[in-house]
Amino acid sequence: MITIKSASDIDKMRLPCRIVAEVLEGLKGLIGPGISTSDLDAFAESEIIKRKARPAFKGYRGYPSTICASVNDQVVHGIPSNKVRLAEGDIVSIDLGAFANGFYGDAAVTLPVGKVSDEALRLMDATKESLYAGIEKAVPGNKLTDISFAVQSYVEERGFSAVRAFVGHGIGRALHEDPQVPNFGRPGQGPKLKEGMTLAIEPMINAGSFDVKIMPDGWTAVTTDGSLSAHYEHTVLVSKDGPVILTKIH
Ligand code: MF3
Ligand code: CO
Repeated sequence: MITIKSASDIDKMRLPCRIVAEVLEGLKGLIGPGISTSDLDAFAESEIIKRKARPAFKGYRGYPSTICASVNDQVVHGIPSNKVRLAEGDIVSIDLGAFANGFYGDAAVTLPVGKVSDEALRLMDATKESLYAGIEKAVPGNKLTDISFAVQSYVEERGFSAVRAFVGHGIGRALHEDPQVPNFGRPGQGPKLKEGMTLAIEPMINAGSFDVKIMPDGWTAVTTDGSLSAHYEHTVLVSKDGPVILTKIH
């Protein structure tokens, strides 16, 4: 069942989404060689609590932290650790969710640590732009997989691949609601998008093969071929005036 949010639901949902955007913006300023991913996690948690919100991921199916911090060939769900220090040339994907006002917000960005390779820059850029290509399709009357197809074709045209094993999702009173939002597939399939739907669109894009495996910690997903991976995500409202990015800072 895909929930439709009323105007007042959306007004409430703006808060957790804005908090996610603000805290991600703050995290961007901390990224640099030498900082540990647990330092980033501690910052995110305290910023969320300061805003009287709650981290969305901590405790979700036993996930231990506020952010996911996935470095280089890590795709998603990297667990913050004081043993993982960012180094010049790394790329790090940071995923953050918050709960406030009875609703969730969810967003992710991939950031360079100092100077990174041209391949890393191209991958990050293609992943971010594929998110916007997907978001453009989040309009009433389109079908769900119009989003999926837009993401997949954007990255494949640039020689990259869209991860199959993880998908985006509806979001609202729950972190994960229907429908699943794949980053691959034929256009014109799945449910018709309607005004008031809220979707977390989140391309996870690999420089090499789309294949991933889970590390022994039970969470961290890595590319099987060791290639770089990037991840961008926004929480988006389908509205009659077009897609509204709720997790964007204006
Ligand atoms: N953005 C991801 C998602 O919504 C992050 C989930 S991390 C988890 O699926 F710990 F909550 F699983
Ligand atoms: Co998500």
